[in-house]
Amino acid sequence: MSAVLVRNISVLVTNSPEHGAGLLGVLADAALVAEDGRVAWVGPDAGAPAADEAVDAAGRCVIPGFVDSHAHLVFAGDRSAEFAARMSGRPYAAGGIRTTVAATRSATDEQLRANLRRLVTEALRQGTTTIECKSGYGLTPADEVRSLRLAREVTDEVTYLGAHVVPPEYAYHEYVDLVRGAMLDACAPYAKWVDVFCERGAFDADATREILRAGAARGLGLRVHANQLGPGPGVRIAVELRAASADHCTHLSDADVDALAASDTVATLLPGVEFSTRSPYPDARRLLDAGATVALASDCNPGSCYTSSMPFCVALAVREMRMTPEEALWAATAGGARALRRDDVGRLAPGARADFVLLDAPNPIYLAYRPGVPLVAGVWKDGIRVV
Ligand code: NIG
Ligand code: FE
Repeated sequence: MSAVLVRNISVLVTNSPEHGAGLLGVLADAALVAEDGRVAWVGPDAGAPAADEAVDAAGRCVIPGFVDSHAHLVFAGDRSAEFAARMSGRPYAAGGIRTTVAATRSATDEQLRANLRRLVTEALRQGTTTIECKSGYGLTPADEVRSLRLAREVTDEVTYLGAHVVPPEYAYHEYVDLVRGAMLDACAPYAKWVDVFCERGAFDADATREILRAGAARGLGLRVHANQLGPGPGVRIAVELRAASADHCTHLSDADVDALAASDTVATLLPGVEFSTRSPYPDARRLLDAGATVALASDCNPGSCYTSSMPFCVALAVREMRMTPEEALWAATAGGARALRRDDVGRLAPGARADFVLLDAPNPIYLAYRPGVPLVAGVWKDGIRVV
């Protein structure tokens, strides 16, 4: 494969402190060479080696592709009426998930695939080069397997979320047994991760532990929807079972924050959810100041947050959660990679995947400074220009 040189980069975010300054490993007046799908070289523009193809960044900045570590993209239908009702005062409730379950079950594979691909393309155009995708709107063994198989067509980061809610045709304990038993057996071959919505109205502490342990015994990595709608045991279970990530983290006790800070479980914050459900945002500063690793992800789904835009999440994190622009960009790239236990994405140092984004901006502060503006001027995945 030929090498590509991107030169005349105003600010190159490497997320590798050994290659540049500060948290983001920033190189000013830089260049980058991609070869065979990987970053081959980064350094000062003046010292850039020759390559088969050269791209002039024209004084704009380059960042790692966003790593969106939490999304629910296999579904049918929409819940715009539910959103409108919520904006008029009706609170968000997990029960709305069942509306999407009904629509998903009655959709054809082709309909689900078309919607999934539309959303992945939409995310890519906004700079997301790695995306996680959960099942969770099928909730029968056959429908969950179908969701995972479809998700695998677009990403390696596939998560079994049979434990999303209890579907109406089952009693609670009967369904928990199915999720950690026959449904897991059917789904495990297609998934990398298992996730549980640990929340009042969804799955309790005992069920969460049982399902996660059963998933781990099948070789799946662990993730938890934790402490979204109220305080609860989700974060502590995630840490206790050494999950890769506890997601949402909206209602945390001091003990939850301390547990996260002392662990290698990433706190993945999903500010698009609080925006779209008009709820108080998670306390990102408290987590960061305590020393927890924080990621930002979209949680793109038709109910609680129908955005695929990581730039929007970065802008929310800065404006609403008091993260610095640097912290927010790190969380949306390197943080997402940590939440997926990946070291080949979320950074731009030699050897990493050549997944990067050219922004129509002189520096990445613009992601928050110019909210809602389409700043993505180019996207490369595995060294190939895709946008
Ligand atoms: O992450 N919390 C559970 N699941 C989704 C919501 C899904 C839905 O409302 O359809 C979430 O917010
Ligand atoms: Fe979610």
